[in-house]
Amino acid sequence: MLNTAQTAMEDRPDGPADESNWWRQAAVYQIYPRSFADSNGDGIGDLAGITSRIPYLASLGVDAVWLSPFYPSALADGGYDVDNYRDVDPKLGTLADFDVMIGALHDSGIKLVVDIVPNHSSNQHQWFKEALAAPKGSPERDRYIFRDGIGPDGAQPPSDWESMFGGSAWEPVGDGQFYLHLFAREQPDFNWENQEVRADFLTTLRFWSDRGVDGFRVDVAHGLAKDLTADRLPAWATVDSTVMDGSHPFWDRDEVHSIYAEWRKVLNEYDPPRTAVAEAWVEPNRRVRYASQDNLGQAFNFDLLSADFDAGQFRAVITENLALSGESGSSSTWVLSNHDVVRHPTRYGLPPKDAGGTVWPGRAWLLTGGLRPVLKRDLGLRRARAATLLMLALPGSAYLYQGEELGLHEIPDIPDEMRQDPTFFRNRNVDVGRDGCRIPLPWSADGPSFGFGRGAAHLPQPAGFARLSVDAQKGDRSSTLWMYKDALRLRSSLRTSETLRWVDSGNSDVLHFQRDGGWESVTNFQDQPIALPDGEILISSSVVTGGKLPANCTAWLLRGEPKTPGKHVREG
Ligand code: NOJ
Repeated sequence: MLNTAQTAMEDRPDGPADESNWWRQAAVYQIYPRSFADSNGDGIGDLAGITSRIPYLASLGVDAVWLSPFYPSALADGGYDVDNYRDVDPKLGTLADFDVMIGALHDSGIKLVVDIVPNHSSNQHQWFKEALAAPKGSPERDRYIFRDGIGPDGAQPPSDWESMFGGSAWEPVGDGQFYLHLFAREQPDFNWENQEVRADFLTTLRFWSDRGVDGFRVDVAHGLAKDLTADRLPAWATVDSTVMDGSHPFWDRDEVHSIYAEWRKVLNEYDPPRTAVAEAWVEPNRRVRYASQDNLGQAFNFDLLSADFDAGQFRAVITENLALSGESGSSSTWVLSNHDVVRHPTRYGLPPKDAGGTVWPGRAWLLTGGLRPVLKRDLGLRRARAATLLMLALPGSAYLYQGEELGLHEIPDIPDEMRQDPTFFRNRNVDVGRDGCRIPLPWSADGPSFGFGRGAAHLPQPAGFARLSVDAQKGDRSSTLWMYKDALRLRSSLRTSETLRWVDSGNSDVLHFQRDGGWESVTNFQDQPIALPDGEILISSSVVTGGKLPANCTAWLLRGEPKTPGKHVREG
């Protein structure tokens, strides 16, 4: 029986016909550039490496690439410490390489979204060097957040605030002042009340938009506006970061939206308008403002990523987020993996105790270096494939993270001396950090770095990568790679309005919904097979036999006449 509760997007047409709506139901593939493909053999992925793999991205069938930071950086935080916002890291190439890459992406029908990091620069940024060289109270210091130390001799930090990566959020500079860094000490926070800072980011938005980028992913979008007016900043224990209602001294303050209103005007100077998606870890209902069309226009929701593999949790997340996207006028976003979290096959293969943690699921097990043999790899992958197929059937944009199409698991056992993530170094024995999801991709079954480059890769790859490589999977129609390719191609041809209708499956462990055009997605979250609903199977995440939908499996079904494939269908 159909559940008639439909989303508020019901009468909104899908965007493909209108170029300015390309993002609404796009499949966006995240590239973490230093780990994607290395063209010059220095062990670090680069822009020419990306260009060489565009045929792969086209055959995968993604609509857009989101490129994590590729700017000059000393890599204190994987490139999220930016030295210069309007250049390319020489280790990754040049602006000319960027132009070649974006031209080739566009020639293949793929859009490009670039990361922009406005909350903080790196401590190697020219402005921060000038701030350190300038005296207290100078215009140079005003671009960042400097305050005097407190205590009898002024040697204590201005507050006991903790950085997101552990340890104090304040760093002394030797003259009685401290600067604020919500992340690593190499990432000083900008002062967004400073007009030069505001103007400079508008220049950066125009710089990349003029070069043809189609959109921006806005890092820590909810952190830019800060209330530091009190003589004595509030003690950390009194600041409840779990309740974000606009009263927090730096997260999700209402003033942040005046910044994005300015940005939107600049982004709308272009045809089509440049898109922006907020990375904002805020209460679901407060995402609406970031996603509004006079604001950034879209916001990540990480709710699916934070959920267990559980029908009830998935349904609640989907229902809530489709309703919220109706309120903002945006489309919803869906994410299962990215460069900050334990890969979803691993999360779903861990017992709840080890998978636990609402913000960083899976980190508990990683702390043991993967030594606790609790990971059920095959089960995790099976569930991950089911979850991915469900996600790709949803209305809205799906963000995919490089390597998930190969079914890669998190790599837990990286020698300490090879780790790179500051969360590991600032939290010994508490958090191993994010290197395990950033291991360079395996392209071939052999070679010094499985085809990633000509030499060893900058993070160690496990021997098991051989059989997971692109080359190993491309001849195997049952591989995870082919499931992604088939699903993306089908999605392009099937997607219509941003509507979803729940179908009552009569089983609380089964999620069944219908999209316009008579196609449906049904996911069996339980460990026993169930009867397969009527319909022609378009694709399934595991082999379907005997009229049963296997355990931990999603299938897409077609009822009625197939829709004529639209112009989004990509051949090859
Ligand atoms: C969010 C990014 O995704 C993460 O990788 C980074 O460490 C922080 N922002 C700080 O820029």
